[in-house]
Amino acid sequence: MTFEMTDTQVAPPRHIAIVMDGNGRWAKKRFLPRFFGHKAGVDALVRVVQACIDRQVEQLTVFAFSSENWKRPSDEVSGLMGLVLAAVSRYLARMGAMGVQIRIIGDREAVPEKLRKAWNEAEQATAHNQRLILNVAFNYGGRWDIVQACRKAIEAGVPAQELNEARLGEFMAMRHAPDPDLFIRTGGEVRISNFLLWQVAYTEFVFSDCLWPDFSEADLDRAIAAFQERDRRFGGVKAAGAVSAC
Ligand code: IPE
Ligand code: IPE
Ligand code: MG
Repeated sequence: MTFEMTDTQVAPPRHIAIVMDGNGRWAKKRFLPRFFGHKAGVDALVRVVQACIDRQVEQLTVFAFSSENWKRPSDEVSGLMGLVLAAVSRYLARMGAMGVQIRIIGDREAVPEKLRKAWNEAEQATAHNQRLILNVAFNYGGRWDIVQACRKAIEAGVPAQELNEARLGEFMAMRHAPDPDLFIRTGGEVRISNFLLWQVAYTEFVFSDCLWPDFSEADLDRAIAAFQERDRRFGGVKAAGAVSAC
């Protein structure tokens, strides 16, 4: 699909961030254990990755497991770890063929070693790919990110008077990416849940009631269309002549 640009439309988003929420409720609606919702969620992610490539999105950042998701029952947590491990071995070659560069953001310390190794392999195997960067936030929290960046800046010996937003940004987990243009949350909740707190200062938010496993190309296009209707001012004012009456 290609976008026809008119004077009033802004460009499509270069970077989309998604809170993939609603897997558990999707399974519950079908009288299935929550695990099956997560499994269907992986399939939805593969579809959305392809859809983003087709729409020339440069970076897609997805929230797969939050710093707080350890609070869930241990069988759900271990089921998720196993599912992610299986997904890496099942889809890595396909992602490579699609030109996807995989990057993992989050605290790897508490993640099982098998999964850490799989992440490293996935990153190394796809490092040269250029069509889409897929940032998978796993054991990630926006507050963790800010704290780990401060810690790294201190360890690097950055003097206090030299620490500013740009300098701290060099230590953030998403230092390789422009800030997200569009933030999508599925599942009906209207909150950030500790996702990219630092990076979403001027991101456009779209909330969808759709449960993540049901999220389709059409839903993605609706979110992009809503984004393209927005007037992004970044704290400034519109250019003279572009102001419309309310
Ligand atoms: C999001 O779906 C996936 C993870 C947090 C891993 P949920 O598991 O939160 O699904 P709901 O919100 O309970 O439906
Ligand atoms: C956010 O969803 C985390 C992920 C989607 C991975 P949650 O389901 O954990 O968020 P809350 O608990 O509704 O805020
Ligand atoms: Mg949820």
